[in-house]
Amino acid sequence: MSEPTSTPPTRRGFLGALTVLLGGAIAALASVPVLGSLFSPLRAAPSSGAADAPIPVGSISEFPVGVPRRVELIRSVTDAWSRSDATTVGAAWVTRNADDTFTAFSTICPHLGCGVNLDKQRNLYACPCHTSAFTMDGKYQAGPAPRGLDPLTVEVRGKEVLIHYKRFKQGIPERETV
Ligand code: FES
Repeated sequence: MSEPTSTPPTRRGFLGALTVLLGGAIAALASVPVLGSLFSPLRAAPSSGAADAPIPVGSISEFPVGVPRRVELIRSVTDAWSRSDATTVGAAWVTRNADDTFTAFSTICPHLGCGVNLDKQRNLYACPCHTSAFTMDGKYQAGPAPRGLDPLTVEVRGKEVLIHYKRFKQGIPERETV
């Protein structure tokens, strides 16, 4: 008589239980990164793309002294679960002063919001929509604008120039942020 060729039931049961146990352990380990990615935004520090973070616009050397330069203000907005692509949120006229401090104005006309241009010939900022004009230090000069250009805070970090961008209400003499 030949010996039985099949594995005894107790051994088969043990191997089956071991397989289930190992499979469960592997599945649990695999789920850790997924769960981590779901909950990590709750403990993430605010990113440099936060809505009120200053926006870098270039290095100091990119701004010649006394010559206003128009810069686009671009940021990627990040919140707890999403990150948008880089978005232009505004623009500014930035001037490097002789003492290496900076002056910046929003390009938004305080009358009805058109983009203010630099008029080199007249040495002023001019709005093309209703001919408001502003001196080089941002003061009201002519036209229907109710106030001067809106100043923006400039920060210099090392060699980098950053703008603290704000939007202001239009059509009113007071300077109020939106
Ligand atoms: S929008 Fe600039 S003058 Fe009207």
